[in-house]
Amino acid sequence: MPDPQLVLAARVQAALSAAFGPSYADTDPVIRPSQFADLQANVALPLAKKLGRKPREVAEEIIANLDTAGVVADVQVSGPGFVNLTLSDAWIAAEAQRTLEDERLAVPPADKPQKVVVEYSSPNVAKEMHVGHLRTTIVGDAIARILAFLGHDVVRDNHVGDWGTPFGMLIEHLLDLGEDAAARDDSSVRDLTAFYQAAREKFDGDAEFAGRSRTRVVSLQAGDPETLRLWQVLVDVSKRYFNDVYGRLGVTLTDDDIKGESFYNDLLAPTARELEEKGIAVISDGALCAFPPGFTGREGEPLPVIIRKSDGGYNYSTTDLATIRYRVDTEHVDRMIYVVGAPQSLHFQMVFAVSRMAGWLNDEVRAEHAQIGNVLGTDGKILRTRAGGTVKLSELLDEAVERAGAVFDEIQHDEPFDDATRDVIVQDVAMGAVKYADLSVARDSEYIFDFDRMISFNGKTGPYLQYAAARIRSIFRKGGLAPEAATGPIVLGHPAERALALELLGFGAALKQAGDTAEPHRLASYIYAVADAYTTFYENCPVLKAPDDETRASRLALCAATLRTLVTGLSLLGVPTPERM
Ligand code: ARG
Repeated sequence: MPDPQLVLAARVQAALSAAFGPSYADTDPVIRPSQFADLQANVALPLAKKLGRKPREVAEEIIANLDTAGVVADVQVSGPGFVNLTLSDAWIAAEAQRTLEDERLAVPPADKPQKVVVEYSSPNVAKEMHVGHLRTTIVGDAIARILAFLGHDVVRDNHVGDWGTPFGMLIEHLLDLGEDAAARDDSSVRDLTAFYQAAREKFDGDAEFAGRSRTRVVSLQAGDPETLRLWQVLVDVSKRYFNDVYGRLGVTLTDDDIKGESFYNDLLAPTARELEEKGIAVISDGALCAFPPGFTGREGEPLPVIIRKSDGGYNYSTTDLATIRYRVDTEHVDRMIYVVGAPQSLHFQMVFAVSRMAGWLNDEVRAEHAQIGNVLGTDGKILRTRAGGTVKLSELLDEAVERAGAVFDEIQHDEPFDDATRDVIVQDVAMGAVKYADLSVARDSEYIFDFDRMISFNGKTGPYLQYAAARIRSIFRKGGLAPEAATGPIVLGHPAERALALELLGFGAALKQAGDTAEPHRLASYIYAVADAYTTFYENCPVLKAPDDETRASRLALCAATLRTLVTGLSLLGVPTPERM
């Protein structure tokens, strides 16, 4: 357990128990970063209040009982009663060495591995993905990677919108165009936005077409084989398109992860029945509704979750309820994370509330909405093209590559690149830029999509971090040494060495936090802090030209540990790290 915060927390808790009795063994020692030491314990203040004593006195007593052996080099009372803690250099060096030697960078696997569904991306069939989907895709993929690394059994779930009334008109439109248009990958079908709009226009303006479309919906819902086959043609066109986007982004979703709305079609009626039998859903104005307590409309009237409409049709909510029921009864999951836009917050709150009433969700089986904030343009408004249309994801990625290329060609490189190599690196830089920009802000806050900022090689950006990793690799190349051959031992002299080593010990805690909260930005910030500590180290501590062999070996080992932390951390965010830049 190399995380200094946890190690010191355990020591302070032992001191509390020794000083004030075993009932204090679980008290939160309130360990925080310190301005004057490595960390400080602030527990003396609340504890003094409870004990009716002076905080400084309580702090002194904690110190008198603190086992410092092997870990703490210095401990002081400061201010009103803070306990300032300075770690010993030898301990930091030994833990950094252990991190270097450990395959998992000393990150402990989760104490209680869980089966976790991470539901993300979830675009709609026969519709273009938009920037909102870009965000849920990138954030969801990072959450899935992080939880898997922590040892959880992760089920990636792409809940695509592949069912519902629009498919009647979409199938009829496909028939009008001729099925072979899809097989030929004709732009009339491949351009999803145009395809959808053309179908919509006919539906609104052509009564005969609208009639056919309605009949088609009925056939689809009745499971008519020919209709299902045509529906599958449409789904396949969209899947090709989704996979193209996923491939370009380096997202881990595959066709096997798709469990769209259609998958739950047969479970809608049984779900409605169960809710009705349990007395949770009742008929109201002809519709089957559940009224979860605490949800009211403007006039205080109870808000319904509509389970079955008065015409007998089922809803978006019904599908989500059936999904939860299936995941609990059949997949036996412990945790469900919905990476979906913040505007759907009320929908999920209500669906989760009904699921708790039904007993599908409880303290052991939990669902959470990992909310995603809107993507804005640099003008602070919802991102649009210059012409005012919705931005197509593939065009956005094309522009990222073009702009990354321009920036990349401007900067100084250690060596020239041939065109093919350059193109591969630029692709990685572009995707790293787009992804890191998204992942470095809290996922639930709005986020400004700004190419200039995200593609910069300076600041909190993907390219900066990729460059930091490439720079370390170049040191090893110049030294004629593989990073794996740098085995230390790590000894700490310069303050910048100590600060870097200490930062490296925080990887496991950052990952655990990111996984527990489903907030990848916590890992993104940590990686940046590592790169930052490395930059200070690099500016102050010559590596290949270190004053003596011992220092050189130690610094190379610090470089190797930093490199692996950066590469592993970035890969868990889905950000690639080119060998050279
Ligand atoms: N397909 C929906 C959309 O594009 C997102 C689905 C979210 N997931 C869910 N279980 N409702 O907005």
